[in-house]
Amino acid sequence: MAATVVVGTQWGDEGKGKVVDYLASRAEAVVRFQGGANAGHTIVNDHGEWRLHLMPSGIFRPGVLCLLGTGTVVDTASLLAEMADLESHGISVAGFRLSDRAQVVLPPFLQVEEREEELRGGGEIGTTGRGIGPAYATKAARFGIQAGDLLDESRLREALDLLFGRYRAWLGLDAAEAKHQGQALLGDLIDAGQRLAPYIVDPAPLVAGWIANDTALLMEGQLGVMRDLDWGIYPFVTSSNPTAGGACSGGGIPPRFIKQVTGVVKAYTTAVGAGPVPTEDVGAVGQALRERGGEYGATTGRPRRCGWLDLVAVRYACLLNGTDGLAITKLDVLDELEELQVCVRYRSPEGEYDLVPQARHFGKLEPVYVRLPGWRRPTRDIRKLEDLPAEARAYLDLICEQTGVPLALVSVGPHRDYTIHV
Ligand code: GDP
Ligand code: IMO
Ligand code: MG
Repeated sequence: MAATVVVGTQWGDEGKGKVVDYLASRAEAVVRFQGGANAGHTIVNDHGEWRLHLMPSGIFRPGVLCLLGTGTVVDTASLLAEMADLESHGISVAGFRLSDRAQVVLPPFLQVEEREEELRGGGEIGTTGRGIGPAYATKAARFGIQAGDLLDESRLREALDLLFGRYRAWLGLDAAEAKHQGQALLGDLIDAGQRLAPYIVDPAPLVAGWIANDTALLMEGQLGVMRDLDWGIYPFVTSSNPTAGGACSGGGIPPRFIKQVTGVVKAYTTAVGAGPVPTEDVGAVGQALRERGGEYGATTGRPRRCGWLDLVAVRYACLLNGTDGLAITKLDVLDELEELQVCVRYRSPEGEYDLVPQARHFGKLEPVYVRLPGWRRPTRDIRKLEDLPAEARAYLDLICEQTGVPLALVSVGPHRDYTIHV
């Protein structure tokens, strides 16, 4: 087995979906290893434009097995809707598999999440509202329901009683109401289990087969390092590990089978949701990037916060992920700019930072920029690195120099074909 892990190196929405769809031409399986329907991975190919939330981005490649791995949290209604949508457009989901150990996202998690955000009183995380935090919290507290449990009515019945017992106070229910509400979900969950049964698998024998057959795997990360539960801008993070280590625990991949880690870098910065974004520009530059890049959330439609490329974040991501190749996306969005800026370190009264410090330092950070000339020429039809304008190559070179990681791919448009393979 040789696994390539594709990870986000910023605040998410780097273009991972596009990169995975492109690279999947040479993969036998694509595995999502963390996150849930908070993901919005956009893919533009000959099947049109798709925003995938749960389905791994290899689904457009016939014959590629697409596993929603053990480390994910799955809203079954959302998954079934996505599967039906794909099938109704002639895209087969026969290659889809769901780990029997993946966690199920349940309706009360969405209510709890709303209450938790209210509790923060002004310090909201601005989550995607998909129940992700409560789903992982419930899993860690060992009150969760695994996808395999959907196939066993008596386990499910007991699990719902326990779960609603646990959240009773949060939901403002007395014991009898809690039991009633829990059991009211039973029918829907059993139905979802029946519909998903053909796809639910034990991933361990799959992993054994991958190892035995030297299968080419792509591991698709969700979000980016700055929203990693442990390494990101806590508490403005998601509740799982989008960094490459998450591929081992969440995907069931032994670490020594990871042969490559590709870091996806958007050519500038965007973020949705709250929390520090040192290079955010609330003026004309941010506005121009948002309009040219179409920077509106793929899951919630929220306008993304935009700014110049932050290489401190990308450098940090490369370090933590062991990144050995960069996939730089959305270079074309910068085509018309006269001058570009890139943040190469942060300055604060305490000193300078080359890597992202712990969150308590964030209020005092100022980005230190270098300026580069723009290229002011369209790049979308370019397919060879050497054909890019010299200024664009200099921009890419700066990113590689500052991170110490070579270029693997450059994306110059949303469609699968708008790609420069290095
Ligand atoms: P992901 O969550 O990392 O998969 O990224 P998103 O899909 O949320 O956001 C990336 C957006 O940029 C999507 O709308 C893509 O279609 C688009 N996109 C990806 N690569 C390129 C590119 O090279 N150029 C342009 N203009 N758009 C791109
Ligand atoms: P993809 O995979 C961008 C952000 C939310 C919020 C924080 C926590 O498309 O890159 P959560 O719902 O996970 O509890 O929210 O993380 N966030 C994303 N931002 N792209 C995503 O996914 C995101 N998934 C979550 O806005 O700040
Ligand atoms: Mg996205």
